[in-house]
Amino acid sequence: MRIYKVGGAVRDRLLGKPVTDIDWVVVGATTEEMLAKGFRPVGSDFPVFLHPKSGEEYALARTERKSGRGYGGFTFHASPEVTLEEDLIRRDLTINAMAEDDQQNLTDPYHGQRDLEARLLRHVSPAFAEDPLRVLRVARFAARYAALGFTVAPETLELMRQLSESGELQALTAERSWKEISRALMEDQPQVFIEVLRACGALKELMPEVDALFGVPQPQAHHPEIDTGAHTLSVLEQAARHKQPLTVRWACLLHDLGKGLTPEEEWPRHIAHEFKGLKLIKAVNERFKAPKDCQELALLVGEYHTHGHRALELKPSTLLELLQSFDVYRRPQRFEEFIAACEMDARGRKGLEQRSYPQADYLRGAATAARSVAVQPLLEKGFKGPELGEAIKRERLKALKAYKETASF
Ligand code: CTP
Repeated sequence: MRIYKVGGAVRDRLLGKPVTDIDWVVVGATTEEMLAKGFRPVGSDFPVFLHPKSGEEYALARTERKSGRGYGGFTFHASPEVTLEEDLIRRDLTINAMAEDDQQNLTDPYHGQRDLEARLLRHVSPAFAEDPLRVLRVARFAARYAALGFTVAPETLELMRQLSESGELQALTAERSWKEISRALMEDQPQVFIEVLRACGALKELMPEVDALFGVPQPQAHHPEIDTGAHTLSVLEQAARHKQPLTVRWACLLHDLGKGLTPEEEWPRHIAHEFKGLKLIKAVNERFKAPKDCQELALLVGEYHTHGHRALELKPSTLLELLQSFDVYRRPQRFEEFIAACEMDARGRKGLEQRSYPQADYLRGAATAARSVAVQPLLEKGFKGPELGEAIKRERLKALKAYKETASF
């Protein structure tokens, strides 16, 4: 039995990046031998085991053949005869298909090291096509390593295009896709993820609502970049630059979907795009079973981002409605995330990246004013049930009127 470190751990060590997860491949062993050594099996017919002490993953060297569409369609062939080279050739990228023994001797039959130096994301072999999720993985690696100068090799992009056009991406489960999407959005350059998906035609398959934004113009006065797709990418870029959490990044990606529905004769204006986009945001949310907090924030940002930008002009009654919609009294954090998304939207415009956004502090001040209304005195006055609700609202409105008059912005 021979054991090698493989995949990301080897790649990241050679790149001089911190290694977090270590994957191992075991050559020349049977399931029975692994079990006898105390390894714990993962699943029933999957040749992967967890180390009894470290908990790291050890996979028997295997070849993979495809027997049907989608993830459930895999069959695995693992046996002691499968060689290291046979195992490595079925992996996604050359830079992920290197192995290392305990003396740090590198096995690199598919020239991963050369591609690391050339900054190329290149598939190992036609076996790449066995798992369509790899289209998303390559786009994610492109986002992660963009700062190091990595690009996707033209022949790999071509293969990704063929996979996208074949309709295979439709067979991916929501869970697998979301894992890739959410990780990619948290990379330093998440806009590159979307760009690469678009370049190979995968964006049209996965999120046609986002793809539709490219080529849609907006008024130059507010959007010097004009194109709605370019704007969306810049908003995402700003969100990463400002280290925003996943909820905010997801909302940034989806905030303008309604603009893709505007009839051409109305361009470059997009009347009521905030409201029109909601059904599209809902569809994308549900397609990938995004977590509840991501879904909620995307819908709220979609509906109210223009209110955020106009905060200083809003009537106190409209401000109150906004605060109520966010349930800012019980969910202060969600309102902060809304403000952050609006700010990223305002800065994700050509030449306006450094602009100030006084709306942010103004909205925070409004939330504080509304929240400062005490309920106890109203209870003491005898208000109950729906009447109490109305009385609280009246007091909050008064507080917001006073705030608007005195706040100096
Ligand atoms: N792999 C693959 N195809 C996939 C998933 C994984 O070929 N769809 C292979 C690659 O060789 C990869 C290794 O399995 O390097 C480990 O996969 P994983 O832990 O998901 O990714 P890492 O490459 O370690 O990358 P990350 O740093 O993103 O975890």
